[in-house]
Amino acid sequence: MKSTSLAANSMLVAAAAAAVAAVHEPSYSLNTTPSSPVSQPHGPQFVSYSFEPAYWVEFFGEPDSPRDLTFTLLNHLHERGARPIIRAGGIAMDSMVFDPNQTKSVVRTENGKGGIYRTTIGPAFYDHWDNFPEGTTFVSTLNFGNNSVSIARGLAEASYQRQRDKIVFYELGNEPTNYPTSRWKGSTEAYIAQWQNFTAEIDAAIDGDSHGKWWASSATTDVTPLKVRPADLIPKGVNSTGQVGQYSIHSYAFATCDPARAARATIPNILNHTDLLRYADDEIYPSAKAAMDAGAPWIIGEFNSIACSGKPNVSDTFAQALWTADVELLYAVRNASSVHLHQGAALVFQSDQQLNTPGDDGSPGFSSYSLLYPIDSSKRGAARVLPVFVSQLLVAEALADGGRIAALETPRGLAEQGFSAYAVFQEKGRGACGSGKKLKLAKLVILNMKPYYAGQEAARATLSVDIGEHKGATVKRMTAPAVDEKDSAKVTWAGQSFRNGEAVGEVAAERLGPNEKVAVKESEAVLVTFS
Ligand SMILES: *[C@@H]1O[C@H](CO)[C@@H](O)[C@H](O)[C@H]1NC(C)=O
Ligand SMILES: *[C@@H]1O[C@H](CO)[C@@H](O)[C@H](O)[C@H]1NC(C)=O
Ligand SMILES: *[C@@H]1O[C@H](CO)[C@@H](O)[C@H](O)[C@H]1NC(C)=O
Ligand SMILES: *[C@@H]1O[C@H](CO)[C@@H](O)[C@H](O)[C@H]1NC(C)=O
Ligand SMILES: *[C@@H]1O[C@H](CO)[C@@H](O)[C@H](O)[C@H]1NC(C)=O
Ligand SMILES: *[C@@H]1O[C@H](CO)[C@@H](O)[C@H](O)[C@H]1NC(C)=O
Ligand SMILES: *[C@@H]1O[C@H](CO)[C@@H](O)[C@H](O)[C@H]1NC(C)=O
Repeated sequence: MKSTSLAANSMLVAAAAAAVAAVHEPSYSLNTTPSSPVSQPHGPQFVSYSFEPAYWVEFFGEPDSPRDLTFTLLNHLHERGARPIIRAGGIAMDSMVFDPNQTKSVVRTENGKGGIYRTTIGPAFYDHWDNFPEGTTFVSTLNFGNNSVSIARGLAEASYQRQRDKIVFYELGNEPTNYPTSRWKGSTEAYIAQWQNFTAEIDAAIDGDSHGKWWASSATTDVTPLKVRPADLIPKGVNSTGQVGQYSIHSYAFATCDPARAARATIPNILNHTDLLRYADDEIYPSAKAAMDAGAPWIIGEFNSIACSGKPNVSDTFAQALWTADVELLYAVRNASSVHLHQGAALVFQSDQQLNTPGDDGSPGFSSYSLLYPIDSSKRGAARVLPVFVSQLLVAEALADGGRIAALETPRGLAEQGFSAYAVFQEKGRGACGSGKKLKLAKLVILNMKPYYAGQEAARATLSVDIGEHKGATVKRMTAPAVDEKDSAKVTWAGQSFRNGEAVGEVAAERLGPNEKVAVKESEAVLVTFS
């Protein structure tokens, strides 16, 4: 019967088409017209760092015995044109004192279980700045916690006398939101009055070098009685004396400081792009906007994925690389001038219910969100670079040469929480009378945030992303065998891994033919550079 066989035939054709579709996965069309404003041009300081001063020597060594592993990582960034600003900041900054007679860079005064009462720095701390890659600049960080103008001024003078040419900013106090409430009794005005008093005293002591170079705020986004985020300080006149250079805010959307928050600090949650957008827009952007409306630059003066030193099996995996790349680019879109990724170790006095602890002998319990474990330790094993490091190379290369970045809409058919994409533009000459710079689409960053775990039953899917018409491109890939990979020898950027600092392998940039689509596996990111 003809009709039946025809029907059977067309069913066969349909089945064959389905089989073909299963092999050639559907492609998703990425609209490269920005869905956000295009950012300011980014400078080489965009990718920057914050190092807990108490652990400075573990990360950098002493002037006569520098810690090569950390310096090697900084060199990889400098080779790509990046010039990270180094902030020796964090909680220990607020118990830091300068002792001109101390021969060591840093001495911690501890309780034997890793609790730090004081961090004493000697002249070698500043002298060591000369061993950083050529062109490195620093933030001179000062203690506000001890409520002593002489301690703060002592640090400022020591830094100014030794390294005035390398100091680009001064910072008084870390996270005043976490100070005892009795200090300012929740009064923003009282905080500003004392901050202006100290900064004026210090300006006078160091020939005005710090005037106009102060970071203001350095607040967290925690809900606290004292409201001193930039959005709170700016309308209350923190810059009425003209001392502020930049507004700084700290960004930690997740934490292991207590069991309830530790339970939420999971790989799927830190890779939920929708939630990262929510935090950036609700908690950070109002302060960023207040700064920009005042014509002022703003920065993320300290940030990382999971407060209280990260979470093992989450922040020491490749997930942290995807998180860091996405969050740094989110803040680049929102015009942060620099983002200081925090490096350190567990601080016992930060929380009495935190997940992370020092070693049993009080030795540092290095933060699992850092770029590296800088030395061998009982808590974290052998010194090594962690999977996150490759994200720094991706972001530095994406924003190189004054890149201006914008967000792109999620392609139809994909979930926003598992996908993130950006377009990077380069300015092309100037229009008439210097106005209307022409923007040329130079690069795309595409992050497939969907977790693919080692040993997972479902196969690792590949997204085929249609990026429209183009004349060809190169693709650099940030990848790992799985999102929970912890061995950085298996984590690569453009084919190279960095477990012991040095690049292993040849640079592998893939060629993309004209109009060709880009393949991005689950838990993978690519930088597409147009020819
Ligand atoms: C970033 O700055 C540019 C100007 O350089 C501006 O047009 C844009 O609106 C700003 N972006 C945001 C998100 O505020
Ligand atoms: C440093 O040593 C000198 C000379 O021994 C001494 O006079 C001074 O008080 C010491 N300073 C501090 C801060 O300990
Ligand atoms: C600074 O304050 C801390 C915490 O209150 C205290 O333990 C330390 O002794 C103080 N340091 C100095 C030098 O006063
Ligand atoms: C700071 O406050 C102290 C104590 O009130 C006062 O003596 C000093 O003059 C003030 N300094 C400045 C620069 O305002
Ligand atoms: C602070 O005020 C001074 C003097 O008006 C101004 O030059 C400077 O740009 C302001 N700083 C910021 C961050 O707005
Ligand atoms: C991802 O984050 C958004 C925004 O916070 C939230 O509504 C959504 O439930 C999250 N997705 C999952 C799977 O948790
Ligand atoms: C991390 O994962 C390993 C292997 O799955 C497990 O043995 C270890 O207990 C986990 N560590 C933490 C802190 O959860």
